[in-house]
Amino acid sequence: MKNIPIMKPYFDHEEAEEAAAALASGWVAQGPRVAEFEKMVAAHEGIAFGVATTNCTTALHLCMVASGFGPGTDVIVPSYTFVATPNSVEYTGATAILTDVDPHTFNIDPIALEELLAEKYELRDGQTFNRASGNRLAGIVPVNLFGLCADIPAINAIAARYGLKVIEDSACAFGAKIGDIHEGGFGNPSALSFHPRKSITTGEGGMVLTNDPDFAEHVRRLRSHAASLSEIQRHQAKGYLLPEYNEIGFNYRMTDIQGAVGIAQMRKIDFITRRRAELAARYDRLLPEAVPFLDIPFVPEGYTHIYQTYACMVSLEKTGRGSVEEGNQFRNALMDRLEQNGIATRQGTHATHTLGYYREKYGYRNADLPFSYACDRLSIALPLYVELSESDQDYVIEQLATLSKDLL
Ligand SMILES: Cc1ncc(COP(=O)(O)O)c(C=O)c1O
Repeated sequence: MKNIPIMKPYFDHEEAEEAAAALASGWVAQGPRVAEFEKMVAAHEGIAFGVATTNCTTALHLCMVASGFGPGTDVIVPSYTFVATPNSVEYTGATAILTDVDPHTFNIDPIALEELLAEKYELRDGQTFNRASGNRLAGIVPVNLFGLCADIPAINAIAARYGLKVIEDSACAFGAKIGDIHEGGFGNPSALSFHPRKSITTGEGGMVLTNDPDFAEHVRRLRSHAASLSEIQRHQAKGYLLPEYNEIGFNYRMTDIQGAVGIAQMRKIDFITRRRAELAARYDRLLPEAVPFLDIPFVPEGYTHIYQTYACMVSLEKTGRGSVEEGNQFRNALMDRLEQNGIATRQGTHATHTLGYYREKYGYRNADLPFSYACDRLSIALPLYVELSESDQDYVIEQLATLSKDLL
């Protein structure tokens, strides 16, 4: 029986060799290999500074702290995202305010954002306040979901009018572009993930990208207990130097063993991106005829999608389903059948307003953010990874067509 996973990281002998060299060097905590990995990743995106972290959630948290988000502030986040996005806001004591997405791109909808701002907020002396709670609105966190940039220029324009900071959640979007500008290149800090479901991996790992030297320095300090001196400065000093700790910091450092793996991964990033794009293009070509009830990922003109996830939507119209709930039953039955036939699929991600913590704390109902809810219940992510063979991809497509026949 086939066993086709949703994702498989791509390694060769280089990752093991680089990791072994890090171990042999005796320097295994954050050190020169992390610094080199940071330079490689930032250069790939055309950004001045990269600050590696333990994962993207901690990278986001550092960006939030460095942006001054905290108690008494609101931060707007799309509901349709991994729960780490709003969680990283709530870690700071700020309130995550959820907004809806555009179901074609799965990304924050600038029109819904404008409506939310008009309905809930008012501008006073260049600052924006929540009419009900009195909280100051401090920022927006657009998510470049599944490898496609959100409409960052539109969001930046709205943020400028309301005096808000923007932090991009680019967990899934390493390499994603609008025109020639990569995620993180639009004047906002951006946070990447190197979890194994992402294009390149360091096991766990993340990175803050920014063109602002002061922001980079602040995030670097916060990552390491907010110590006024880095480990390298202390090791290079004659005698010993004691750092000062002037604010609350964290230990969010990546190890040099992970940095070593990241360096080896970065040497193959172009190959990985190209192969994944070829497989996505093959799905784009073959799915509409073989499986017409699935809407394939939409890519706006001028955008480069890197397909961290190949997420389709079950079409209510083409499956003849009258409601999201009925479409959801169809999708789940199909996913179960695929699993039984050796094919792993997943829903794209979740509508965080439907998850226990956010539902209970803020009293959301499913219908409050209807497009996020529909994306949660109707999306289906298909297997995509470098070593997925074309014959296995054909098998996925055939099984989608065959196993759905009597469900339609
Ligand atoms: C949109 C989004 N944000 C944040 C994260 C968190 O990334 P990490 O697992 O590296 O903390 C993920 C992980 O999948 C994600 O998809």
